[in-house]
Amino acid sequence: MKIILGVTGGIAVYKAIDLTSKLTQAGHDVRVIMTESALKFVTPLAFQALSRNNVYTDIFEEQNPAEIQHISLTDWADCLVIAPITAATIGKMAHGISDNMLTATYLAYTGPVYIAPAMNSKMYDHPAVIENLTTLHERGVQIIEPGAGFLACGYVAKGRMSEPQDIVDVVTSGKQVQQIQQDLVGKHVLITAGPTIEKIDPVRYLTNRSSGKMGYSLAEAASVRGASVTLISSDLPLAVPEGVKHIKIESAEDMFNAVKEHMEAANIIIKAAAVADYTPVEVFDQKMKKREGDLSIQLKRTQDILMYIGEHKTHQYVVGFAAETEQVEMYARGKLVKKNADVIIANNVGDKSIGFKSDDNAATMYFKDGSSEEIDKQPKLGVAHEILTHVIKKGFN
Ligand code: CTP
Repeated sequence: MKIILGVTGGIAVYKAIDLTSKLTQAGHDVRVIMTESALKFVTPLAFQALSRNNVYTDIFEEQNPAEIQHISLTDWADCLVIAPITAATIGKMAHGISDNMLTATYLAYTGPVYIAPAMNSKMYDHPAVIENLTTLHERGVQIIEPGAGFLACGYVAKGRMSEPQDIVDVVTSGKQVQQIQQDLVGKHVLITAGPTIEKIDPVRYLTNRSSGKMGYSLAEAASVRGASVTLISSDLPLAVPEGVKHIKIESAEDMFNAVKEHMEAANIIIKAAAVADYTPVEVFDQKMKKREGDLSIQLKRTQDILMYIGEHKTHQYVVGFAAETEQVEMYARGKLVKKNADVIIANNVGDKSIGFKSDDNAATMYFKDGSSEEIDKQPKLGVAHEILTHVIKKGFN
C-alpha cells in the first residue's frame, strides 16, 4: 500500500517512528509529513531513514519544481494516516483550515483517512474536541481510539495513542473502524487461554498447538472496554495486556483449580483454552531412561472444565470454544448442549490461514437460543471485539 503518514506534535511521536518501521517492514511505501510541532520532538531524519523517503515538513519547500507536492502526494496515496494527531490538528481538519503541508494534504485528499488521537484525557473529553471528532467521523474519517493507559501527564485514562501494531492492523485490513465503547465497566471477565502442559517427567510433557493468541486478544478487548479481567494460562511468549490480572498455570488440573477459585466473581467466563483431554497417569520424578523395546504411556481423562462450569454456574454467561477439523456446526452445537454453555464459538482449525498459530481468525458463534453469528476472517483482536459485542447484545448478569 502507498501510505501518507502525518505526524503531529505530541510525545506519542516516538510511536509514529515505530509505526513507520512496522509499515515499511510489512512492505508498504510510506511518505511522512511532519508538522512544525512534531519537529520539536524529533528530527525528520528518523522518519527518512525508516521510510527511505524524503520527509515533507514545509508546504512552501517544493522538493520537485515540476509538481505541487501536496497535490501529487494525494494522487499517489492509497490512504492517509495521521498518528499521533493532536487536538489542534483535529480542530483544523474539522473546520477546513489549511495552514501547513499536512492539513493542506488532508483537504486535497479524497481517499480513506485514519486518525489516531493522543492527548491528555481531559482534553480528549472537552466538548470542543468531542464535537470536532464527531464532525470528522460523520465525514468518514476513521478514528482509531486510544486505549486506557498511563499518559505522559500521569493520568490513567483514555488518551494514550493506540499501539502501532493495532494501527497497522486497522489500516491494512481496510475495514471500518468500530468505535470501542466502554460497555464492560464494572463487569468481571474470566478468560482461559492457550494450551495446558501435562508433565511426563521433569523434561518431557504433552501439549498442543494452541498459541493462546485468541484468549489474550479477548483479554485485551475486554480490558479496553472497561472490564476487570482475570486471564488464566500457561507461560506463553505473549505480553499480558495492560491492566489484566494473569494467573500462571501449567496443567489442566491447575487450570481447573484456578477457574473454581475465580468463577464466582465472574460475570462472563470465556474458555478459549485448549485443555488437554488426557494426562499421564504417572508423573516420574526423575528423567525416564530409555530401555529396549517400545514404550506405552498410560493416560487418564482430565476434568472437563467447561462442563464443570456449565453444571455449577449461577449467574455467569458462559462462552466455550470448539476447535474442529470437520462437521464444525454439528460438533459445536453438540458441545453447546452437552456442556451447558450459553454460546460456543467454533472455528475450523484445519484451515491454516486461521486458528491456532495464525494471527487471523474467523468463527461462527452458536447461541443457546438457536441463533448464530458469523465472524469474518480478520486479526484476532477484531474477532475478540466482535465476540464481546455479540455477547453484550445477548445480555448477561
Ligand atoms: N474444555 C475444557 N476442559 C477440557 C476440555 C475442553 O474446559 N478438559 C473446553 C475448551 O476450553 C473449549 C471447549 O471445552 O471451550 C471445547 O474444547 P474442544 O477441545 O474443542 O472439545 P472437547 O470437549 O475436548 O471435545 P473433542 O475432543 O471431542 O473435540
